[in-house]
Amino acid sequence: METIGPDVVDVWSWRLDVPPPDLDMPRALLSPDECARAGRFVHARDMHRFIVARGGMRLILARYLGLSPQSIRFSYTENGKPYVSESGTALVHFNLTHSADLAMLAVSDRYELGIDIEEMRVLKEDIAKWFFSRSECETLNALPPEDYLDGFYRCWTRKEAFVKAHGAGLSLPLDSFDMIFDRLNEPRLHRFEGHPDAPANWAVLELAVPVNFAGAVVASTGGHRVQLRYRDAS
Ligand SMILES: CC(C)(COP(=O)(O)OP(=O)(O)OC[C@H]1O[C@@H](n2cnc3c(N)ncnc32)[C@H](O)[C@@H]1OP(=O)(O)O)[C@@H](O)C(=O)NCCC(=O)NCCS
Repeated sequence: METIGPDVVDVWSWRLDVPPPDLDMPRALLSPDECARAGRFVHARDMHRFIVARGGMRLILARYLGLSPQSIRFSYTENGKPYVSESGTALVHFNLTHSADLAMLAVSDRYELGIDIEEMRVLKEDIAKWFFSRSECETLNALPPEDYLDGFYRCWTRKEAFVKAHGAGLSLPLDSFDMIFDRLNEPRLHRFEGHPDAPANWAVLELAVPVNFAGAVVASTGGHRVQLRYRDAS
């Protein structure tokens, strides 16, 4: 069985666009509710990506839980975050993200966490002001124009990873916290309204991702320093 420990967060990545014959195996791993969800996608490509993402997540988590991939039963928080809480199995915290045909899964045996990747696309309008805090907008607008897009996605994925780690989903106001995302400073949470200890307790890590993607992991480590350990799921 896979083990992790206090010093690392495992990060697995795999591609979602596979030849049609390679869909049968992940499809066979899904639960009835996941099959029903797959059936509700309008576009075949989105359905296939969902199947390969969920099947991949099951295959990876099975290695930590000592269960077969089919027998894992996901529960969901009221905001939709999946977790596993079966008695008799190892404790595992995990979070999945997918963008375009890339999926990544972060796994820890002790820290609550969130992960986000985004394929970087040219922005059609200035949407930072709708999503970022005032200080994040100031940092972004001070970047040289050629760094703007990278900076936007670094901030976006760090915020999204924090939202996903925190678990409150869309009910967490996006201007209630500031992420440090300029290149001069280490990634970190700078402020979280009403939680003065939060910057010391949450670790923010930049993900190594393919060209044209940005990504981040945020974990509630209580101040313990962690590193990302990259694993290849393909
Ligand atoms: C799920 C959510 C948290 C993120 O969605 P997303 O970035 O589109 O998608 P990602 O690929 O990163 O993550 C999706 C996966 O996260 C997991 N997830 C679902 N709800 C979650 C939640 N509330 N918290 C954490 N993880 C969640 C699921 O495994 C999901 O994949 P699946 O449905 O295929 O199993 C969603 O609530 C959302 O849309 N948030 C947007 C918040 C926002 O405005 N962010 C702007 C940042 S500046």
